[in-house]
Amino acid sequence: MLQKPRGTRDFLPDEMEARRSVEWSLRETGRRWGYREVCTPAFEDLELFTMRSGEGIIGEMYVFEDKGGRKLALRPEITAAVIRMYINEAKVSPKPLRWCYFADCFRYERPQKGRYRQFWQFGVELIGADTAMADAEVIMLAADMLDAPGVRYDLKVGHLALMKNLLLDLEPSARRKVRAHLDKRDYTSLKETLAEMGKPDLADSLVSLVECRTLEKAFEIAGEVPGRERIEQTLGALDAYGVKYTLNFGIARGLDYYTGMVFEGFADNLGAENQILGGGSYRLAHLFGGDDVASCGFAIGFDRVMVSLGDTKPRQDSVVAIVSTEDGRARALEVSRAFRSAGIRAEMDLMDRGLGAQLAHASKSADFAVVIGKREVESGTVTLKNLRSGEQKSLDLPAALAEVEAHGAR
Ligand code: HAM
Repeated sequence: MLQKPRGTRDFLPDEMEARRSVEWSLRETGRRWGYREVCTPAFEDLELFTMRSGEGIIGEMYVFEDKGGRKLALRPEITAAVIRMYINEAKVSPKPLRWCYFADCFRYERPQKGRYRQFWQFGVELIGADTAMADAEVIMLAADMLDAPGVRYDLKVGHLALMKNLLLDLEPSARRKVRAHLDKRDYTSLKETLAEMGKPDLADSLVSLVECRTLEKAFEIAGEVPGRERIEQTLGALDAYGVKYTLNFGIARGLDYYTGMVFEGFADNLGAENQILGGGSYRLAHLFGGDDVASCGFAIGFDRVMVSLGDTKPRQDSVVAIVSTEDGRARALEVSRAFRSAGIRAEMDLMDRGLGAQLAHASKSADFAVVIGKREVESGTVTLKNLRSGEQKSLDLPAALAEVEAHGAR
């Protein structure tokens, strides 16, 4: 028997309905903030993702050559593609642009619960606004989006400038090494590495910065950085809006394009793969042939949100089984059309079953049966049977429709 590729999943109807209903709540939140949906291709020129994505992601990409010899990659993330599209299609549009997207991404990672090779992101990019309020808006929106479907999470907000100030004297490769230790909170290796580099004193400052939770203290450790006022304003806006967050100046982010404010969300109830959101401010447009436009955004790991929410049953439609004899079939087709036109889910027998077998099947799969035989055709009525209560009535079509409509969703 053939199986699906490792790290991919199939979704049955119950799961798809649950996913769509959560997707809808994220989309609706985006709409209320003025974010309009965009869509980019599932694959792009490889170069788009190698320019500024960072080693981690480059090593995980699905790369292939097409029949014309072009080097392409399945998108490992969507931000670079959105900025490419902005330059191609919309660079003259009035700023800022508020865009959102929901799409699948591909990364060749070791699969486990919450980590897949095909996974979905719900993301947002705010393009062309370079202010404290722009930084604040995306964080406020991120919090609103996670709140909408009821995710429980911790939000961590930081800024790259402070760490950068401390690492100013190090070579880029040394900087990367130090950051990797800090990311893993591996302070022993950090001290060893810095001692080897002849900078043993730096270890204490770095550890204090990563562990500190107030802005005052962070500036005390890292020294004055450009843009201090902007950071204060951003955090002031978050406080005014009532966003709950903790400061964390150790946030490194896996992608290389971030320039300033960065943030990450972690679900309370997930294990190792508990990061459900990541984002920050960045500059990419100038690398792809556009102006140097400031942007900020984030992406929610949609599959992790679904794991965190657990088994949520979406509202289900009432189902009406249209049950008929051969004499009643033409009328049954008319009646089924009337139910569907009213927005009600109506299903007819396709198995050439007799009336009794149709009703038996309906009792397992539907909430109502609308029975149409010779008698109903002659009298211009339908027999409406409530399959949950067993109650049965002879009604004209508008009354039957009204009765099912009044019943509402399951
Ligand atoms: P990222 O942190 O690489 O950021 O991915 C965003 C989210 O996608 C992660 O926080 C995680 O929840 C989810 N995710 C990542 N890899 C997997 C996986 N293998 N399986 C399941 N979920 C996964 C970005 O992609 C940036 N483009 C975000 C951004 C938008 N920054 C600015 N704008």
